[in-house]
Amino acid sequence: MSKAEAHSAAPAHAGLAPACGLRHAAIIMDGNGRWAARRNLPRFVGHKQGVEAVRTTVRAARDMGLEALTLYAFSSENWKRPEDEVSDLMGLLRHFIRADVDEFIANNVRLKIIGNYRVLAPDLVEMIDDIVERTAHNSGTTLVIALNYGAQDELVRATRALAAAAARGEVNADAIEAAHIDAMLDTSDLPPLDLLIRTSGEQRLSNFLLWQAAYAELYFTDTLWPDFDGNSLAEAFQSYATRERRFGGR
Ligand code: FPP
Repeated sequence: MSKAEAHSAAPAHAGLAPACGLRHAAIIMDGNGRWAARRNLPRFVGHKQGVEAVRTTVRAARDMGLEALTLYAFSSENWKRPEDEVSDLMGLLRHFIRADVDEFIANNVRLKIIGNYRVLAPDLVEMIDDIVERTAHNSGTTLVIALNYGAQDELVRATRALAAAAARGEVNADAIEAAHIDAMLDTSDLPPLDLLIRTSGEQRLSNFLLWQAAYAELYFTDTLWPDFDGNSLAEAFQSYATRERRFGGR
């Protein structure tokens, strides 16, 4: 397929997600650094190009009728990166949210954040809260950005909340079931996770959506994140459509 065809292909995939029985997909966006290194460019350029891939992918997901797209933008372990890189990532995020809010509103996209984002810079937290509130009633695709997110941290927070509820006598500890835990997670208002994609050839979950991925289909591609686009997303969805999901049955 030519590059021109590739770019005009997104509308051709309209409605692909429901046609595949797919409601919620998540992506571990990996390979920005390698994309830049292959071009002898600084890592920042790879992250910047990664933001363009975020834009393209969100538009494609919306065109394809996906209910929820969850993106791993900054993990609770990413603080271990050099200070400059952390600051670059926060700057890109700030710019992305500010620049794209009008597009979210025009396209009926709801923004949601998962992870302990309240520890980020106060101006960023304020900006996020404002946009989350302004898009809260949008009924199209929910764009979920995982920020300072770690699945183990999410489960610790959920466990603490349940333990506190049990201590107040609101829930009987012996009667706690999976649904109680689900309800305490950051993702409680999202459809179940159907498909988890990781780019760049790495095949691990890196502390992302560990509970939610229990029955998700996994899809790994060698494509580096900055090169990921609507056609890459459609390929992942088409692969999902061939999977036989058994949820432990046969
Ligand atoms: C992995 O590439 C990517 C990240 C750590 C962060 C992803 C962030 C973005 C795409 C930009 C900001 C996001 C939004 C939503 C605006 P890597 O640096 O680990 O790549 P490498 O493994 O090749 O070094």
